Amino acid sequence: MADQSFVTLATNDSYVKGALVLGSSLQQYRTTRKLTALITPQVSDLMRKVLEKVFDEVILVNVLDSGDSAHLALMKRPELGITLTKLHCWELTQFSKCVFMDADTMVLSNIDELFEREELSAAPDPGWPDCFNSGVFVYRPSIETYSQLLQFATEKGSFDGADQGLLNTFFSSWATTDMSKHLPFIYNLSSTSVYSYLPAFKAFGANTKVVHFLGSTKPWNYTYDSRTKRIKGNMDDPKIVHPEFLNMWWDTYISDVLPLLEQHGIVKEITTGVNMLSGLVNTLAFSCGFCREAEVTEAVSHVSVSPLLPTESSEERKERWEQGQADYMGVDSFDNIKKKLDTYLQ
Ligand code: UDP
Ligand code: GLC
Ligand code: MN
Repeated sequence: MADQSFVTLATNDSYVKGALVLGSSLQQYRTTRKLTALITPQVSDLMRKVLEKVFDEVILVNVLDSGDSAHLALMKRPELGITLTKLHCWELTQFSKCVFMDADTMVLSNIDELFEREELSAAPDPGWPDCFNSGVFVYRPSIETYSQLLQFATEKGSFDGADQGLLNTFFSSWATTDMSKHLPFIYNLSSTSVYSYLPAFKAFGANTKVVHFLGSTKPWNYTYDSRTKRIKGNMDDPKIVHPEFLNMWWDTYISDVLPLLEQHGIVKEITTGVNMLSGLVNTLAFSCGFCREAEVTEAVSHVSVSPLLPTESSEERKERWEQGQADYMGVDSFDNIKKKLDTYLQ
């Protein structure tokens, strides 16, 4: 199946994090298809190298921007003009068929069966189901289609100022003609809009194959506590509809992506495993080593402290700490942690 590929796009290092989680999730569920990432020059060299570890092809393209601020303002997402860059995916004619996936999606099972579908297959947009959502779609690369899309964009613009408006007008028969081009919603379940029909989510949500973190707050904008395996902060935030999906994203990020970022020196493991025999402190903190962008998130940060109990192994100590059974007033007190850290940092 070397002539078929999943394709994603990242125009900056933040979206690369999403692309890496997506690519890792596709690998985790053993896709037999190629993985291709389109990037633009703003992506740093280091992040590009990390992408090359996960994706078979990382292809540099130029930015296509609608600059259509009036329409984008209607969507309240002026930053999305750049998503027209997605159109470059039609240039990948080394492949006969592809599935494009936004960098803010991840798969929860193998979805290779999507390659049995034809251009243009996509799932309904949760906000306007007569339009398809352009976060996941099956298409056939073709220079002819690419040129037609560009021409269409120049002449007619896009009703949302970005790719989804353009693609829906271009493939305008999607809503009414061929049902086989309607992907079930489980192939593009938007994590932010399942509220609109919660009973359906309760009945069918477990079948979800692709989750899409649609909207302005992306998983990488949250902070995750690897100890409790939970998103830190206010869980009443109306944007966090289903924290379990966010947690899944972060699980994959921690287990599959962070090690790659560490290998490339992008994320620094500040301190780790401070001598457990003589010591009391086992600190594990990650910080983001590339801070070019405003939305760079503190990746993970927690401090674990274990008392030196002769009968307790390091593993047991860690476990006790992880279960929240710290001796806050005694060996695990703030003063003790600080003292230990000070000694270590000197
Ligand atoms: N994208 C990007 N850089 C940006 C904005 C978007 O690379 O600054 C790409 C990325 O693949 C992203 C897709 O375009 O997933 C669509 O944007 P987004 O997912 O933010 O839109 P939403 O799905 O939230 O409407
Ligand atoms: C949508 C889609 C996204 C697209 C954006 C702009 O909400 O989820 O893929 O890029 O709109 O059209
Ligand atoms: Mn998206």
